[in-house]
Amino acid sequence: MDASADEVQLGHDLYHELCAGCHGQEMMRPGLAFDLKKFPANDPDRFKKSVLNGKPPAMPAWGSQLSEDDVRLLWAYVKSGG
Ligand code: HEC
Repeated sequence: MDASADEVQLGHDLYHELCAGCHGQEMMRPGLAFDLKKFPANDPDRFKKSVLNGKPPAMPAWGSQLSEDDVRLLWAYVKSGG
């Protein structure tokens, strides 16, 4: 099922609060961290796992801060491509 525009917007807000510092405004700052625009849209499980558990050394784990719902919203935003 496709995410609603509301979900994408909420994910966008969360992204800007937590992720943009490394992954760039609107997911655009190639070179600094993984380019999320290139994240495979058909792999939500990998997204969830990477976000909750992190990817050492540079990608923090968010498992203690984000709810399942937060991760779902972030995924809606990332999958939308910005
Ligand atoms: C402190 C900097 C930093 C912050 C903040 C950060 N990331 Fe990352 N992220 C990274 C780096 C660096 C990588 C690349 C890790 C690697 O491939 O070794 C990465 C990789 C990723 C990946 C790809 C992992 C994979 O499966 O290859 C995803 C997805 C991701 N980040 C999502 C997020 C989300 C969502 C947030 C906000 C909740 C976030 N990141 C916040 C630095 C950060």
